[in-house]
Amino acid sequence: MTTLHALSIGQRQFPVNLIQGPLAGVSSPPFRRLIWQHSRPAFSYTEMISCKTLIHPSKILHQRFTSKDVQEGPVCFQLSGKNPKELSEAATIATDYGADLIDLNCGCSVKKIRRKGTGSRLLDDLSHLYQLISALRKSTSLPLLVKIRVGETEGFNRELAKVMSDAGADAVVVHGRYWFENYHTPCHLDEIRLFVDTLKIPVIGNGDVSDMASLQQMLSTGCAGVMIARASVGQPWLIRQLIAEINHEPFSIPTTPTIGELFIEHVAQLAGFLGDESLAILQARNLAPDYARCLQEDQAMLFCAEINACDHFETFKKLCARYFSYPFPR
Ligand SMILES: Cc1cc2nc3c(=O)[nH]c(=O)nc-3n(C[C@H](O)[C@H](O)[C@H](O)COP(=O)(O)O)c2cc1C
Repeated sequence: MTTLHALSIGQRQFPVNLIQGPLAGVSSPPFRRLIWQHSRPAFSYTEMISCKTLIHPSKILHQRFTSKDVQEGPVCFQLSGKNPKELSEAATIATDYGADLIDLNCGCSVKKIRRKGTGSRLLDDLSHLYQLISALRKSTSLPLLVKIRVGETEGFNRELAKVMSDAGADAVVVHGRYWFENYHTPCHLDEIRLFVDTLKIPVIGNGDVSDMASLQQMLSTGCAGVMIARASVGQPWLIRQLIAEINHEPFSIPTTPTIGELFIEHVAQLAGFLGDESLAILQARNLAPDYARCLQEDQAMLFCAEINACDHFETFKKLCARYFSYPFPR
């Protein structure tokens, strides 16, 4: 049976090798704080941040992307860009904002991002990618990661691995899908294994890990660490639960009323962070299906429908109380 262990990336050591991955629109400080409070992963990621946002800040965007909560653990700032000078400057700014690690996004497959020549498009030109990683390497002494999707041929993937390592990356996060694949296609663990076998720096495996069985499968690739992204949403305790289960330690999954309280806490923190309850309620609509996983299917559907029609925080709290039976009777 594969087990968890400590993880070293560059000069940093982490007591566990499970990482909370980046989720645009979700991975804000309130979410990361909740994850830290309930799971203590090695570190969490920010949402992807465009270098231009860091270099030419607008007030709202800047706060959203650069804040680090005093009550959260280590944070990896993920940068998106295609210009070596801008990436260097952005890495320096991120370091000033308290980044513990820096990551270059080379995996985003969203059309808008690819059209800009960023995200997974960076994998189309490996000599340019080498320049970008080298520029980041020169501008920061923080651990430097590169998060990729896999390429289609073995030859390409071996060359990509060499480029990232030669340019100075301290670790690579491999999301085991091709850029054009959606989440219905299962993650290609064999492609992750190829990076593990090729690289001397740590490889973090990513894709479809949501429980003990999928974690064990990912660990069987020989990866040094595992990144979990979507499955922690609405289950901020998940990483802690997996650590306990793999170590044969007792763990109690939170009760349904406690999960309702967590949802309220998440949205209350968002309201405080955004300074706007209605914006927090809009985010609550996206989060509702994840928190509703613990409800029966018909109840979950009704709950999400009611949250979608809800505009006020007080109503939101009452709905959580009713559906999660906290603390009022239904
Ligand atoms: C809504 C959403 C937003 C995402 N945002 C980012 C992002 O900002 N940066 C990034 O590198 N990956 C992003 N991803 C990809 C995830 O980090 C991760 O690689 C992918 O979901 C597979 O891991 P999982 O199965 O554990 O979720 C996003 C995925 C989703 C579904």
